[in-house]
Amino acid sequence: MVNTLYKKYRSLFQMPKDWIYLDGNSLGPLQKNNLKSLYNVTSNEWGKQIIKGWNKSGWMTQPDKIGNQIANLIGADKNTVTVGDSLAIKLYQALSGATQVSKTNGCLLSDDSNFPSDLYIANSFLKDKNLPMRIVKRNKIKGELKNKNVSILMLTHVDYRNGEIYDLNKLSKIAQKLGIITVWDLAHSVGALPVNVKKENIDFAVGCTYKYLCGGPGSPAFIYVNPKHIKKINPVIAGWLGHQKPFDFDISYKPAEDIKRFRIGTPPVIQMAILESALKIWKNIDLNIVRKEAEFLTSFFIKRINRLNCKMILLSPIKPEKRGSQVSFQTDNAYEKMQALIDFNVIGDYREPDIMRFGFNPLYNSEKDVIKATEILKFILKKDIWKKKKYAKRKLVT
Ligand SMILES: Cc1ncc(COP(=O)(O)O)c(C=O)c1O
Repeated sequence: MVNTLYKKYRSLFQMPKDWIYLDGNSLGPLQKNNLKSLYNVTSNEWGKQIIKGWNKSGWMTQPDKIGNQIANLIGADKNTVTVGDSLAIKLYQALSGATQVSKTNGCLLSDDSNFPSDLYIANSFLKDKNLPMRIVKRNKIKGELKNKNVSILMLTHVDYRNGEIYDLNKLSKIAQKLGIITVWDLAHSVGALPVNVKKENIDFAVGCTYKYLCGGPGSPAFIYVNPKHIKKINPVIAGWLGHQKPFDFDISYKPAEDIKRFRIGTPPVIQMAILESALKIWKNIDLNIVRKEAEFLTSFFIKRINRLNCKMILLSPIKPEKRGSQVSFQTDNAYEKMQALIDFNVIGDYREPDIMRFGFNPLYNSEKDVIKATEILKFILKKDIWKKKKYAKRKLVT
């Protein structure tokens, strides 16, 4: 079973030779084939068709087509997902939608380990609304749901810091029973583990496409809206491409009848073309196998780190089924140690205040990567290489 995906798919990815890339939870690598799409969209489409490309090459329908590709990965129906903008904006739209279909007298509940941007967005959206935000510890969410008057539950499925997975099924069930609207951030789930928004009757989901979907840096985000809500929602950002007939140039806004009402403005055609091409790979991949192989890789990594006896404390859940495709450790001088590792071509990342984070994607990571990465780490620690001054210098992106 082990490495079956690696054997089939590793050669499709472009990465510097000798790199052990353990940061796909932050930014996935390029698939070589996508270069052809990039060339095609720039040279053949834009280069030859210029404005005709909107019709001739179907640029205007990219967000719908890509939305349907992503819908397949999250168990959504056709025409319930659209793509564009950043996750931050898609979350803003989802929250606005949630307030429009939820009971109005409760609060928005989230947890203090949520991705800070999600909390900032929620705060900024709610500041002039009569809907307080309640932020509690992760382990208090279930209790709060039952005991407090909650209108909207906003959570990130897989914790960005330690990879812990929320029991989406259980929480969604509780929320539904209590009439609470759910908004899930699937940034660290989509392409990493099976999610079924339809089966779980989720109300809204958002996610990014540059991590496990390998759409490239800054590739557009997606929003899923439960079809029962779509027509009830007045788009909070009423851009022309969310209009029923954008090219009528009617000055009064009439939202599209379908998921298109969550589109805003001109799609980033070049980035969309890369994303569309990157998603083709998923036609033949079973997410259950991705998940199994990721569980193996993360478990094997934890086992080998523990054997080093190097005072790296596991922050991720020890049970594989409770963590996503990443493993995090708390340790002194985590930043310096990570910089030294990166210098030796083992690419992970660092999160405040003292966390070393390693992401695994079975499409391009193997058992051998785990062995090599832990051997290099052992060397760096044993020889105190990380103590070199240069590794303490903080970079803009950590
Ligand atoms: C869980 C989570 N939510 C939101 C974001 C922010 O996404 P964006 O910068 O695309 O808006 C990230 C970015 O890494 C993330 O990990």
